[in-house]
Amino acid sequence: MYNNLIIYYFTGTGNALAAANWIAQVALTKDIQVKIRKITPSLKVAKEEIPENTLIGFCYPTHGFNAPPVVIDFLLRFPKLQNQTFLLNTRAGMKISKLFLPGLSGLAQLSPALILKLKGFKIVGYQPMDLPSNWISIHPGIRQKVVDSIFKRCERITKQFAEKILSGQNVYKGLISLPVDLLISPISIAYYFFGRFALTKTFVADNNCNNCGLCEKECQVKAISIKNNRPFWTHKCESCMHCMNSCPQRSIQTPHLFVVIIWWLVFSVIPMFIMKELVKNSPVFSEYFNLIFNIVVLITGLPIIFFSYRILHFLIKLRFFNWLITYTSLTKFKFWRRYFAPKKYLDVKPN
Ligand SMILES: Cc1cc2nc3c(=O)[nH]c(=O)nc-3n(C[C@H](O)[C@H](O)[C@H](O)COP(=O)(O)O)c2cc1C
Repeated sequence: MYNNLIIYYFTGTGNALAAANWIAQVALTKDIQVKIRKITPSLKVAKEEIPENTLIGFCYPTHGFNAPPVVIDFLLRFPKLQNQTFLLNTRAGMKISKLFLPGLSGLAQLSPALILKLKGFKIVGYQPMDLPSNWISIHPGIRQKVVDSIFKRCERITKQFAEKILSGQNVYKGLISLPVDLLISPISIAYYFFGRFALTKTFVADNNCNNCGLCEKECQVKAISIKNNRPFWTHKCESCMHCMNSCPQRSIQTPHLFVVIIWWLVFSVIPMFIMKELVKNSPVFSEYFNLIFNIVVLITGLPIIFFSYRILHFLIKLRFFNWLITYTSLTKFKFWRRYFAPKKYLDVKPN
């Protein structure tokens, strides 16, 4: 069917790369030339780089029920071609007892699909893959035994998917959940325009940080800068969890107490106070209370979060404050495991 396969991937903790590698392994058994390329904010692809009869794949995690913005931007600057292509989004898979639980895609396949369709591509595969959830800001990393079992299952499913698309069949599994995906699409949109920026300010380095600079060096979107000898997360952060899961000092935390207080102020106390003042002045405001309340959150929310984060970053240098932030971060505690895809799945990387 195909002479070449090029897979573009973005990954925070290795899941999407593991999936790309499984597809590559199947392609190699069919004597298909394989290239795997990492998506970065500066990666540009020229039309001429893509040989004829090439299947093009995109593997990436789901973030906020959507594809990560770095992937969407990459697709927007991808050349217009008529090639066959497939989309594989990794999601938050879990396992309870013997039951494998799926994540939710939202627009994670639909928005890339729309961009690619408008560019002239033919999409032959939509496949979500429920690899272990890496969102350790909200839950501890999944236990190793469970990780191994989820990986075994996903390897089998991904390879079956690869067999089918590489032999010319269409696989539209990802479209089964279309009604649910469309239902939650307002959350995807809110995440894209608001939520993701708020999340960039949920990382902090505690006193264990020895300023080795690894997080800054390894950040794939260059979102971390060192300020006052401490990493500072800028609005470019994709919350991919790479830094937090790979810090050798285990010093990167989600400051849960700080986040709860600031978000309570942003989503409730401050807009409520502003609304009270507005309603006092004109009854029109009470007629459209909910709408105006949300507009107030949109306008004031991010500036307050960004400003408070600057204060946090400054104060964490002080011993007492550092202690307070560190020990009110659930991620600090030993039982709050980190997560990374098992190394053996990341090594096979044909080029
Ligand atoms: C900020 C953030 C948002 C996420 N949003 C979703 C989501 O909307 N739906 C889902 O199924 N998984 C979600 N996840 C989980 C990841 O998509 C999932 O663990 C994925 O397999 C990670 O892949 P990677 O290791 O290639 O980065 C989210 C993870 C993070 C860190």
